[in-house]
Amino acid sequence: PVVAIVFGGRSSEHAVSCSTAASVLAAIDRDRFDVVPIGISREGRWVLMADDPAPLRLTSGHTPSVEGETAALISADPSTREVIISPPGEAPRVLTEVDVVLPLLHGPFGEDGTLQGLLELGDVRYVGSGVAASAVMMDKALMKLVFASAGLPIGRYVVITDKEWRRDKATCLDAAVPLGLPVFVKPARAGSSVGVVKVDDPAELEAAIERARLSDPKVLVEAAIAGREVECGVLEGHDAEAPRASAIGEITVTGDRHTFYDFEAKYLDDDARLTCPAQLPEEDADEIRELSVKAFEAAGCEGLARVDWFYEPGGQLVLNEINTMPGFTPSSMFPRVWAETGLDYSELITELIELALN
Ligand code: DAL
Ligand code: MG
Repeated sequence: PVVAIVFGGRSSEHAVSCSTAASVLAAIDRDRFDVVPIGISREGRWVLMADDPAPLRLTSGHTPSVEGETAALISADPSTREVIISPPGEAPRVLTEVDVVLPLLHGPFGEDGTLQGLLELGDVRYVGSGVAASAVMMDKALMKLVFASAGLPIGRYVVITDKEWRRDKATCLDAAVPLGLPVFVKPARAGSSVGVVKVDDPAELEAAIERARLSDPKVLVEAAIAGREVECGVLEGHDAEAPRASAIGEITVTGDRHTFYDFEAKYLDDDARLTCPAQLPEEDADEIRELSVKAFEAAGCEGLARVDWFYEPGGQLVLNEINTMPGFTPSSMFPRVWAETGLDYSELITELIELALN
């Protein structure tokens, strides 16, 4: 099958997506799949990329980005399912038919149902969740409504919409007071902790909200949860089988440069440690797996998701979020938990593509 790998994109996680693509390009089974790498620039231009992972890797010394000359589009005409390219100065032509798209995009304009909608229009198969689950899981405010209605345990939070903030900041700030301190201020639709600020002092709340609003005018203020950060991978079942849940991974932030698992700790410094399997009582690990599958199904996810939890000292669980296209970078948890469960990186990619093809 021909697999179009789409990455980069218009979100603040552009470089993370390039890094995810680098890992997937290096690991995908070349005997089985023909790969067409398509990058989306930060401005939204789709380009045919070289099939070379090296320049796409994110390191502390290199922020990768999509650049290129040859425009490449996936047809939105359901009768064709083609990749059409336009090299500079040449007429557009069909490069290849495409069997499935692997949308390795994180954040808005990729992980949020927009790309999925385009592919639905073209009747092109793709890996991962559909339009609605992608959109709702991208928006932390809507995501919490789904979790709450499914009876899943979530933390205390308030939502501040753009209009509420512009109308009356004082009331918005007052609404956050009952959450106590510290709080985490987050853009509703972002990822990789971009725009997230931990606030310990009430005088800093307004500036933190303004900072989050640069990523998204809709903002959440969440009560801090004193717990270990544990994550579970979920893969859709074949046919009518139940979704499968992975070993549990744990993140520990080390050193004193980070007060939480922020962007730098995630990708740039050596200050986040991933442990898998997490040291937990077996019945608690089983409960995390069971509730992760419940969250996946409540949200209507397809293909894959990573479900992120807080595990409180008393053993209670608080659901933090679902990521419908989790990172596949060298420092990412999703491939790690599946390797621990017996699916190595390249088998995991094969499994995801086969789920989409079936
Ligand atoms: N948003 C990042 C890529 C993750 O969830 O892994
Ligand atoms: Mg996320």
